[in-house]
Amino acid sequence: MFDDDTEYGEHDESPVTASLLRTDGDIEASLRPKSLDDFIGQSRVREQLALVLRGAKQRGGTPDHVLLSGPPGLGKTSMAMIIAGELGTALRITSGPALERAGDLAAMLSNLVEGDVLFIDEIHRMARPAEEMLYLAMEDFRVDVVVGKGPGATSIPLDIAPFTLVGATTRSGALTGPLRDRFGFTGHMDFYDPQELQRILLRSAHILGVQIEENAAAEIAGRSRGTPRIANRLLRRVRDYAEVKADGLVTIDIANAALAVYDVDALGLDRLDRAVLSALVRSFNGGPVGVSTLAVAVGEEPATVEEVCEPFLVRAGLVARTPRGRVATAGAWEHLGLVPPPDLVFGSIEVRARENQPTLDLFD
Ligand SMILES: Nc1ncnc2c1ncn2[C@@H]1O[C@H](COP(=O)(O)OP(=O)(O)OP(=O)(O)O)[C@@H](O)[C@H]1O
Ligand SMILES: [Mg+2]
Repeated sequence: MFDDDTEYGEHDESPVTASLLRTDGDIEASLRPKSLDDFIGQSRVREQLALVLRGAKQRGGTPDHVLLSGPPGLGKTSMAMIIAGELGTALRITSGPALERAGDLAAMLSNLVEGDVLFIDEIHRMARPAEEMLYLAMEDFRVDVVVGKGPGATSIPLDIAPFTLVGATTRSGALTGPLRDRFGFTGHMDFYDPQELQRILLRSAHILGVQIEENAAAEIAGRSRGTPRIANRLLRRVRDYAEVKADGLVTIDIANAALAVYDVDALGLDRLDRAVLSALVRSFNGGPVGVSTLAVAVGEEPATVEEVCEPFLVRAGLVARTPRGRVATAGAWEHLGLVPPPDLVFGSIEVRARENQPTLDLFD
C-alpha cells in the first residue's frame, strides 16, 4: 500500500519520532486495528463515526464525507481503512501531493464504483485545480472535464458514482474554508493516554507473538509520547533486545534496559530533546531564550529544534513559549535532576518577574 509518494521522516531517525520511518512500513500494516471495535482509544470519534456509518447503512445511502485531523501516527489512515471495512466497500487511496494535476483526480473520480471510499491523505497539500474539482465532486457527484485548450476549450459535465470521501490531515488549519465546509463530519484525533497505549501495546505484542509483562507494557506506554506509532516501534526495539540479551520475555527490567540503549528516557525524550532542555536550563539559566540561539547551542537547525523537539517539550509541560523566548518550567529542572530556582512557582515560571531582564537572544 505504500507507493513512491510515501513520505518518510528524513534526517530524523529517532525511535520516538512520530513520522513514519522506512523500517515501520510492513509491520504497521499488520498492527492496524481492523474494525471500530478493534480500535483502542479515541472513544468520541469512534462513537460519532459509528453513528454516521450506521445512519447511512439504515438509509441505504453513502455516508457524509469524513475529515480526520490530528498529529502523525494517531490512527487516521487506520480509521480510513476501517470506514471502508465497516461499509463493506472498496477503498481507493491517494494523497494531496500525488494530485498535482486535476486530470489525475478526474481519472480517479470517474473510476469510482457506487459506495466506494476515496481516501485522500494529506489533503491540505492538494493543488488548487484539483481542490476545485473536488468541490463539485463532493457536492453533486459530478466532475467537469475540460476538453481542448484556449478559447475553444469546453467543459463537459460528467456524472460520477456517489462515494464517500475520507480526507486526512495533520494540519486542519491549512485547509481552505470551502473544502472544510464540504465535509459532513470531522473527527479530531487526540493524543492517547498511557492506559490506552498500554492496551495497544498488549494487543500488538499478542499479534507479533511477543511475551510481555503488563508493567513492562505500561513503562513503554509512558515513553511513547501519546502516539501508537511510537509505542509500536518501541515495542519492536524492546523485543529485539529481549531476544538478543535474554530469553525473549519482556519484563520491566528488560524494557528499561532496552530503552536506555535506544536513548529514550522516562518521559520519552530522545538525545536531542534532552540536549535542548539541558542547554535551556544549564547554559541559559532556564531562559527566556530564542529558538535560534538554542539551536546554535545544540548544533542543530532552528527548524529542527522548533518543529521536531519543541512541540513535544511544550506538550510535556517542560518548556513554555513566551513572547520573550523559550522558558524552562520547574518540571524541566526536575527532569534534569536539578532544583528549580525560587522564582519558578507551581511548575510554571513567573515570566512577569523576569520581563525587564534582557533576553539572551543573539539571533532572533
Ligand atoms: N487505536 C489504535 N489501536 C491500535 N493501533 C493503532 C491505533 N492507532 C494507530 N495504531 C497503530 O499506529 C500506526 C500508525 O497509525 P496510522 O498510520 O493510522 O496513523 P496516521 O494518523 O495515519 O499517521 P500519519 O499522519 O503519519 O499518516 C498503525 O500502523 C497502527 O499500527
Ligand atoms: Mg496516515
